[in-house]
Amino acid sequence: MVDLLLGLQWGDEGKGKIVDVLTKNYDIIARFQGGPNAGHTLEFDGIKHVLHTIPSGIFHENAMNIVGNGVVIDPVIFKKELDNLDKFDIDIASKLLISRKAHLILPTHRLLDAASETSKGKAKIGSTLKGIGPTYMDKTGRNGMRVGDLEFSNWKKKYRALANKHEAMIGFYNVDIQYDLKELEEEFLEGIKTLKKLQFIDSEQYIFSAMAEDKKILAEGAQGSLLDIDFGTYPYVTSSNTTAAGACTGLGVAPGKIGKVLGIFKAYTTRVGSGPFPTELFDKDGETMGRVGNEFGATTGRPRRCGWLDLVALKYAVQINGVTELMMMKADVLSGFETIKVCTAYQYNGKTIQHLPYNIEGENVIPLYTELKGWAKDLTKLTKADQLPPALNDYIAFLEKELNVPIKIVSVGPDRLQTIYR
Ligand code: IMP
Repeated sequence: MVDLLLGLQWGDEGKGKIVDVLTKNYDIIARFQGGPNAGHTLEFDGIKHVLHTIPSGIFHENAMNIVGNGVVIDPVIFKKELDNLDKFDIDIASKLLISRKAHLILPTHRLLDAASETSKGKAKIGSTLKGIGPTYMDKTGRNGMRVGDLEFSNWKKKYRALANKHEAMIGFYNVDIQYDLKELEEEFLEGIKTLKKLQFIDSEQYIFSAMAEDKKILAEGAQGSLLDIDFGTYPYVTSSNTTAAGACTGLGVAPGKIGKVLGIFKAYTTRVGSGPFPTELFDKDGETMGRVGNEFGATTGRPRRCGWLDLVALKYAVQINGVTELMMMKADVLSGFETIKVCTAYQYNGKTIQHLPYNIEGENVIPLYTELKGWAKDLTKLTKADQLPPALNDYIAFLEKELNVPIKIVSVGPDRLQTIYR
C-alpha cells in the first residue's frame, strides 16, 4: 500500500517536517510531482535543512528515497542540494533513486519562465521562476528531455535542439531578459555530471516490487491542493497535479493501492505569490501571524500573505483528496489571539454558499466567519495531547466536526520533537 501526504492549502503547510517525523514508519519515501519550486523544511538537533527535490526521508538511515516520474529536476539546484548534504554522513548513492521518466529542467526553461512572467506584467502568477511551467509544457507538448535520455549518447544533440527552440521562444516574448547561456550551460553540465552519479531506475517497476514485498511507501506531495493545475485557483497555480490523483500518475500507483491519505494544513492560512486569497488579512493580526510564524518562502524568501483558516477551501481539499487523517501545523502561532476566526461560508453573488465557486477573486467572494475563543498558553514546550489548552481543544473539535476527519497530529513548532499525537 502507498500512503499519501498532501498539503491542503496553498503550499508551505509543513510537509517536510511531517514526512521526516513519519519516515520511521516507512521503507520508502517518494516524491511524485513538482520540482525545486518546493522548499521542504526539516529541523532537528538544532539544525534547519531545506530540501527542494530530494524527498524528506533522506536523513533516516533505513528509508529509501525516490524521485518519481512526475517530478521535474533541475540538475543545477539538485547538485547544490546534494552539496549541502555533503557534511552529513549519508550514503546518497544507495539511498536516493531517480526515475528515468522524470523530466529535466533546462536553463532555458528558467529563462522562459522569467520571460513569460515579465510579459504578464501585473497579471503575473508570482512563479518561483524555477522553470516549472515551461518544463511541464514541454512534457505535455511531447518535447521534453527526461532523465533516461542521459543514458544515451545523443542527449546533447537533443538538448541543443530544445535549447535553440527555447531561445527563439524567449525572443517571441519581446521582454528584456539578460542572460549568459554559456555560463548557465556550464553549470547545467556540472549538474548533469552529479546527477549521473546516482542510480536511474524505472521507478514504477521498483514500486511494484516493493508493494509485492509489502514494503511501506509514503508518497510526499509538494505545493498544496489549491495550487493544483486542475483544481487550484487557476491560473494562479503550479503546473502539476498536487492532489491525490497526482500520486497515481506521478509514481505509477493504481488508485486501489492507495492506503491512508494524510492531509496537512496550517491552523491559519498562508499564500506566497499572486492569486485570490479570500481570508487574507492586511491588519495587525495578519502581521502577527507572519512574524510569529516566520512566514517567508523557503525557496524564494518572499514574505507569505497570511489570513484566518478558510474552512470552505479546506473542505474542498479534503474532498478532492479523500483525506483520511488530518495534521494541523503551527498551532503555536495562534497562541495569544483573543479570538480565533474561521471562515465557514462565503457570500457570493448575494448568496451564502459553503462550497468553492469557480472564481474566488476578491470582489466575488466575501468570507463569513465563525468566532472561537483563543488561548494564551505557549504551546511550544508541550509534548502530550492532554496538555493542550481547552480553547485549542475546542478549535480542534470544531474543525473535526466540520471536516468529518480526525486531526491526528498537532504541531507546535518546527522541530521534530514539537509534535503532539492525538
Ligand atoms: P511555480 O510553480 O514556481 O511556477 O509557481 C506558481 C505558483 O505556485 C506561485 O504562486 C508560487 O508562489 C506557488 N508555489 C510554487 N511552489 C510553491 C511551494 O512549494 N509553496 C508555496 N507556493 C508555491
